Formats: sequence, structure tokens, C-alpha cells
Amino acid sequence: MKDFRVTPIRNGTVIDHIDCGQALKVLRIIGVTGDVASTVSVLMHVPSRRDGWKDVVKVEDRELDPREVDKISLIAPKATINIIRDFNVSEKYNVQMPDVVRGIVKCGNPNCITNKSEPVEPQFVVESKDPVVLRCHYCERIQEDFADRLV
Ligand SMILES: Nc1ncnc2c1ncn2[C@@H]1O[C@H](COP(=O)(O)OP(=O)(O)OP(=O)(O)O)[C@@H](O)[C@H]1O
Ligand SMILES: [Mg+2]
Ligand SMILES: [Zn+2]
Repeated sequence: MKDFRVTPIRNGTVIDHIDCGQALKVLRIIGVTGDVASTVSVLMHVPSRRDGWKDVVKVEDRELDPREVDKISLIAPKATINIIRDFNVSEKYNVQMPDVVRGIVKCGNPNCITNKSEPVEPQFVVESKDPVVLRCHYCERIQEDFADRLV
């Protein structure tokens, strides 16, 4: 049988071991919304040699900034970031969820001081990493559906 594979990338980033079902959120985080200028491959629900199933995102000519990696850590805590240079993995690291999340999530409480006219930067305490539970430092609300409020 012919071995079909996605196009290897020369330079770019492979985000591997994404929790199954989270690839589209990762794409949104890294700003891939449809009109792209370089190759993007998305694999959903592929077998993982580690355990079960995973999603994978491969972007050509793109590296991630720390803010993007922090966002990814909240929705795909087991993801690995592989920097590809000249077709090879030149760096690999695991995303690491911070203990305190600053600025990358909007509080879901419209009355929170972080959502007022002169907003204070949002800040959340990570109360649990598995499952991810974020509590607003200011209004103390537990954040439901925070993945929809990444900023
Ligand atoms: N040039 C490339 N183009 C596209 N994808 C690549 C390229 N090189 C590596 N990858 C992908 O990057 C990921 C990491 O590659 P690596 O060779 O380190 O695999 P691995 O040994 O299975 O790593 P891990 O233990 O992190 O799963 C894999 O998903 C691999 O398919
Ligand atoms: Mg692997
Ligand atoms: Zn709040």
C-alpha cells in the first residue's frame, strides 16, 4: 500500500500531542483563520504512540511566541512544540501551563473590574491543571468556557 504522508516542512513549527479535538482551537490561537500565506497541515484524531489519539498542527515558516504557547498550554496541556529547521527537529519542548495566567483570557464576568472601561489586566489562578480550572484573581469567578475567551 502506498504510504501517504503530509508534506514535510523545511522550516516551521510542529505542534504535536494536541489533545484530540483541540486542533481548531490551536489554529485560532496561532492566527490561522483561513487566509494563509504558507503551508499548514492539520491532522485530527490520529493514533498517538504515547496514548490513544491526538491532533497535530504543522505550520511552515512560523515560530510561536511565548504568549501563544501559554494559550496552547491551557487547551492542550500535553502538547509538544517542535521547531523544524532544514527539515529536522532542531528544538523540542513541552508546553508548560503557568500557575498564574496573566492577560491571555478575558474574565467571563461582565461586572469584573477587568471588564470595566479602564480595564485592569486579567489575572487567574490555575486551581487545577487536570482538568484545567481557572479562577479570576479579582472577582473570584471560576471560568467556564475560557477557551472561547482567549485574547
Ligand atoms: N520536516 C518535518 N515536516 C513535518 N513534520 C515533521 C518534520 N520533522 C518532524 N516532524 C513531526 O514533528 C513531530 C516530532 O518529530 P520527532 O521526529 O521528534 O518525532 P517523535 O520521536 O515521535 O517525537 P515525540 O517523542 O515528541 O513524539 C512528529 O509529529 C513528526 O511527524
Ligand atoms: Mg511521536
Ligand atoms: Zn473576574
